[in-house]
Amino acid sequence: MSEKYSVRIQGKNADITVEENQSILDAALRANEWLPHSCTQGTCGTCKLKVLCGEVDHHQSPEYTLTAEEKADGLALGCMATPLSDLTVEPLGNTGDDGVPHYPLRDYEGTVVVLDDIAANTRRLVLELDTPMQFNAGQYAELIVPEHGVARQYSMANAPTENRRLEFHVKLTVGGLSTEGWVFSSMTVGERVSLRGPLGQFNLVNKQDEPAILIGGGTGLAPLKSIAQHALAEALVPELFLYHGGRRQEDLYDVEFFRQLEDRYPHFHYRPALSEEQWEGATGLVTDVVVSDFSTCKGMSAFLCGPPAMVDAAVKALKRRRMAPRLIFREEFTITPATSPAPAVP
Ligand code: FES
Repeated sequence: MSEKYSVRIQGKNADITVEENQSILDAALRANEWLPHSCTQGTCGTCKLKVLCGEVDHHQSPEYTLTAEEKADGLALGCMATPLSDLTVEPLGNTGDDGVPHYPLRDYEGTVVVLDDIAANTRRLVLELDTPMQFNAGQYAELIVPEHGVARQYSMANAPTENRRLEFHVKLTVGGLSTEGWVFSSMTVGERVSLRGPLGQFNLVNKQDEPAILIGGGTGLAPLKSIAQHALAEALVPELFLYHGGRRQEDLYDVEFFRQLEDRYPHFHYRPALSEEQWEGATGLVTDVVVSDFSTCKGMSAFLCGPPAMVDAAVKALKRRRMAPRLIFREEFTITPATSPAPAVP
């Protein structure tokens, strides 16, 4: 039988029970004790905490996220560390009331009801869940790859009100366990799928005074589609701009869907951009298109999702256009650490 440890979370005044092979973060989120986190696979450092009392196993916490000095100072990654004794820990990130509702992490089962090719090497996967999953627009879930039992991360693309029917956008990775080995080969409509969620702190949930710019590359569109639908339905922002970057027209998808949203919401503006093909729309890197569209981004916020190079370029471009760094929110396709079985958002 698996050993159980008691973990006190300093600052939250919370005590949780953690199984010997369970990460502190997993146990906290399942107990509905929110802790800051993003990647859940040891690559971002958002979940860093201080072990004030007791001992942990750091497993494969990468040196680039948790240095030897930090370990010696008693720091640990909540998403990687498991207890070796009862513990007292103190999260480094803000665990206070951020005005965002947090929903507990749970395991779910669902059935594949849609599996469509929507762009070059890109599929839309829709799962009908047995029980609803509450989540914030922008969050992700982990799908469990059958037979391998490993988790792969994909952002929900649907509005949170559709909590029984989750939409995911999946890009083919050559040799990818979950894509070439599953979603693009053996997966069929009617297949049963195990998943867990919700995860991540990329979201737009509360009403804000400033206009927002959403910038997505490839299937980085997924969480932005969820955010756009939610923000428009709930009138969360005075004006909303969505930029979607691809190389060629075959990379774009849901164009008609967003055009219809534009017709319905006059304060919503959709701008797809192609970097390698001339067409009737915007041409160039999506970040360059944003820069040429705005002489200033002062007083605006941004939500970015896509490959790290695109996200980094967008952050630089927006700062050049005087957007406040605290109003720039980013979600990246995470690089799978060689030691970890888990992969990539979205
Ligand atoms: S390193 Fe733990 S959530 Fe990213």
